[in-house]
Amino acid sequence: MSTPSPRRPQRPRLRRIAGLRVLVTGSSSGVGRSLALAIASRGGRVLATARRADRLASLVAEAPAGSIITEAGDVTDSDFRGRLCAVAVERLGGLDVCASVAGSGAVGPFRELSSATLDRVMAVNFLAPADLVRRCLPLLAAGTDPAIVLVGSILGHHPLPWHGEYCAAKAALRSLATTLRTELAPLGIDVLLASLGPTQSEFWEGLVAGQRASWSRGRQMPAARAAAEIVTGLERRRREILPGWQAKGYALAARFAPGMIDAITARRLAAACHAPRPPAP
Ligand SMILES: NC(=O)c1ccc[n+]([C@@H]2O[C@H](COP(=O)([O-])OP(=O)(O)OC[C@H]3O[C@@H](n4cnc5c(N)ncnc54)[C@H](OP(=O)(O)O)[C@@H]3O)[C@@H](O)[C@H]2O)c1
Repeated sequence: MSTPSPRRPQRPRLRRIAGLRVLVTGSSSGVGRSLALAIASRGGRVLATARRADRLASLVAEAPAGSIITEAGDVTDSDFRGRLCAVAVERLGGLDVCASVAGSGAVGPFRELSSATLDRVMAVNFLAPADLVRRCLPLLAAGTDPAIVLVGSILGHHPLPWHGEYCAAKAALRSLATTLRTELAPLGIDVLLASLGPTQSEFWEGLVAGQRASWSRGRQMPAARAAAEIVTGLERRRREILPGWQAKGYALAARFAPGMIDAITARRLAAACHAPRPPAP
């Protein structure tokens, strides 16, 4: 019979979602909204946050009564991140899961985008989540079966042209997830990275700069399905999830045939750049 490690108390094979106190950033639309609802419907208590307060109010109206509380603000504001931790203590009595979902991209050739765009994309997708996690750690260490969920992208596995800032931020997030997973294991804090592929959401309407490139359009997974896979990953104590065949296929190609991805995207990019442009208005 194996003896349990003194530093890691035995935990059930499956994490119990009911009763968990969960902070979800990016809860006003897309994956974050679906994740907040999925956790609330499973008996979790959610602190939902994003900038749009009206959207958060409609989220509360849709969820089981009393399951979701909200705090509106910009996650890139360090004072606001501090407030989220304070609200978790005041209104939930602590925190068991920190789920960082908020994110937004920028599209365009790196040479044409500005330093301000780079700063903003790094702030939303990497610096803010990293600092939020650090601030939440004392709460998580005192929590029940604690975990960190970082929503990244398959573009953190291998980048695409015209998405340089976003890909760099998601690659940094993926790297941080790997570091934290090992560092926090002795504290019993799990780290789940969700590397999403194309997903139906408001992502392309909320870009920091540019607009969706015609050559990167394709089939998208419903946000609710991606959120359901995140909850399953949390429940099953997964290290990383890649929801859907597109995400899994891209991650495989990124690992074993990165040159093929580069060759295909270079061809698509060249075709798009040589396509006739619509006449100027
Ligand atoms: N959609 C995809 O194809 C795809 C693919 C791979 C990865 N992802 C990742 O999935 C995550 C969720 O995105 P989504 O697809 O669900 O897009 P979405 O519908 O645009 O959701 C993004 C969420 O982030 C919030 N947000 C953005 N900037 C914020 C800020 N400065 N402060 C606070 N909240 C902020 C938005 O709320 P407010 O505007 O109300 O603040 C919104 O709730 C992101 O991390 C994204 O990078 C998406």
